[in-house]
Amino acid sequence: MAAIEILDLEKSYLVGFWRKRPKLALRPLRLTIEEGEVFGFLGPNGAGKTTVFNLIPRLYSLDAGRVFLDGKELTGLPQHAITRAGIARTFQNIRLFRGLNVLENVMTAADPYSDYNLLDVCFFTPRKRRRERAVRELSRSYLRIVGLEGYEKERPESLPYGMQRKLELARALATNPKVLLLDEPAAGLNPSEVRLFIDLVRTIHGQFQFSIIIIEHRLEVVMELSSRIFVLNFGKLLATGSPAEIVCHKAVTEAYLGEEET
Ligand SMILES: Nc1ncnc2c1ncn2[C@@H]1O[C@H](COP(=O)(O)OP(=O)(O)OP(=O)(O)O)[C@@H](O)[C@H]1O
Ligand SMILES: [Mg+2]
Repeated sequence: MAAIEILDLEKSYLVGFWRKRPKLALRPLRLTIEEGEVFGFLGPNGAGKTTVFNLIPRLYSLDAGRVFLDGKELTGLPQHAITRAGIARTFQNIRLFRGLNVLENVMTAADPYSDYNLLDVCFFTPRKRRRERAVRELSRSYLRIVGLEGYEKERPESLPYGMQRKLELARALATNPKVLLLDEPAAGLNPSEVRLFIDLVRTIHGQFQFSIIIIEHRLEVVMELSSRIFVLNFGKLLATGSPAEIVCHKAVTEAYLGEEET
């Protein structure tokens, strides 16, 4: 069964001084991402890649289209229900809670919908204590996986950029996703960090076996990790295929890879 099925997704933004002029960002887009697949998303700046990511978990409302996860329709569900169903994402511009430490950042992702009642909260019952201990341990294990063991008490903003990216990843893992959406996770990393990041994603994918959709301008990241790549240009499909097919695709080289070489 396909993990994610996207049917005819469409989006225009309202732009201009009065926000009345529609600007087409995504033409009807159809995509199927298989269970356990790493799917790469390429395209020049402004092609509409992040828009797709924002439409899946309903950060933006879509104009048309439907989204299914394992055959179950997600369209119209509120954001928290979509996270619960198994969609997690990281952001192009890192979003972490500055008021919380590293461990707490992961804990809030691991336990956002705890079923504590008023009694639990007011009296800090054994049930709540047990649950918190379990969430704490689970969150520590995600920090270990991404290589942030020992940084639990740090503030996210005091960490170097590469570590903040790893923390975002730990937060996404903590939601126990079926599909992980990574929006330019290697942006701002130096070449040796990029290498380590590729290895980390590979390890995580091997361990958790979920599907990953990865948007990245660093070609080596997409080429090495993905089994299939989708190239978007001006909000529509330009090409799709294996990494080997994509590097040889004429329209892609002109629209995207050519731009990288200049
Ligand atoms: N909130 C918004 N309001 C208006 N226009 C937007 C908004 N978000 C995106 N756009 C426009 O929609 C188009 C697609 O943007 P999107 O961010 O999806 O591209 P992208 O492929 O992720 O680009 P990049 O590689 O630069 O991140 C662009 O022309 C962008 O300017
Ligand atoms: Mg983007």
